[in-house]
Amino acid sequence: MSKKKRIGILTSGGDCPGLNAIIRAVVKAANRKNWEVYGLPYGTDGFIHLAKGLCTPDELRLTTHGYDLPGHLQGIDILQFLSGSILGSLSKGDPQDPEIAQSILDGYERLGLDALIAIGGDGSLDIIYDLAQKGHWNFVAIPKTIDNDVPFTERSVGFDTAVDTVTHALYDLTFTAASHERVMIVQVMGRDAGHLALHAGIAGGADVILIPELVPHLSDQVVEGCCRQMADIRSTGRQFALIVLSEGVKNDNNGKEKYIGDYLANRINEQSHKLCENGLEEFCSLKNIDVRVTVLGHLQRSGTPSSSDRLIGTAFGIKAIELIEQEAYSRLVVWQHGGVYSQPLDQVIAVIRQCHRDNRCAYPVDPDGFMVQTARSLNIYLGDQHLPLSDLDPKPTSFQLAV
Ligand code: F6P
Repeated sequence: MSKKKRIGILTSGGDCPGLNAIIRAVVKAANRKNWEVYGLPYGTDGFIHLAKGLCTPDELRLTTHGYDLPGHLQGIDILQFLSGSILGSLSKGDPQDPEIAQSILDGYERLGLDALIAIGGDGSLDIIYDLAQKGHWNFVAIPKTIDNDVPFTERSVGFDTAVDTVTHALYDLTFTAASHERVMIVQVMGRDAGHLALHAGIAGGADVILIPELVPHLSDQVVEGCCRQMADIRSTGRQFALIVLSEGVKNDNNGKEKYIGDYLANRINEQSHKLCENGLEEFCSLKNIDVRVTVLGHLQRSGTPSSSDRLIGTAFGIKAIELIEQEAYSRLVVWQHGGVYSQPLDQVIAVIRQCHRDNRCAYPVDPDGFMVQTARSLNIYLGDQHLPLSDLDPKPTSFQLAV
């Protein structure tokens, strides 16, 4: 048996479904080895709490017990079915501030950890990587985000459930859309990445999917394309339509809109009127078109974790423990080609930092990938503004298989 270890675990950045499945797997696998696990509350803030004496190491100890339901439900292992994070998460704070950074490093020392597992998205992993280097921490990272935009991993925990949530919403909206002959615009999260909109749009039967990788901004041409798609659908006898719009798509002036769905709805109304008035008969069926907008918002971050997120989360947790046992530190656990591997964090962080500097997504949708092709084959309108592939470096499909 390997030397007994004392490991910490934290969740950082926006929450998502599947975090508790990771924590459960880590605790179970570590307990089997007789290692101790400490759960940091609110990401790296947990270390500050420790440094300030607001909590003691003993209070942070995680075991496989203590998550029992009452009465006859006692004994049900509920953790992996719960969304959110039992540890709480942190999506603000300023670890660049030397005093805050020092307090985090002091808290880490106080806990006397052999290694830390951090579950985070690209932003928080970047920050924690920096702290880990300063404090010489033994560090393993696990990717999570509904945006699925962490480089080198085809899947981040939380994405699959969010796809399900959006897909269900589209299904539900179809019936009211059909009853009132409306166009429903569904504004979807994803930050600068269109994975969530694209996957859910295909699975949920969208007629239009607009993602930032293909439609950086809503030009007249894109809006006219939407109108044409609506008019074509009407000409076949169907009077309703579904548009999935990724929040990362910008307005016509390349500006960010909090309610980009409302912006598109207005533009569709204006443009369809204009086109009809300019004598383009085919757009006149849209004259009284009724467009409604649904912003799914933080519903996409919750919901019962899908079996796939529980499975991947569990496999990621087990892999993290395996890496710590092998003392293979400074690695990101990744999902590639249907299996769990790990990738050196210096490579991952280098890509993230370069992309942040260039103001672009670290793991965008591949405009020539099979998902985009699938959508095109279904005659889903995608805005048809192809970015040259050279603008997307590194291409998501070009990653080397990790070990
Ligand atoms: O990165 C995850 C995410 O849910 C994005 O899709 C979204 O833009 C953002 O976080 C919302 O952040 P907040 O919860 O801080 O509003």
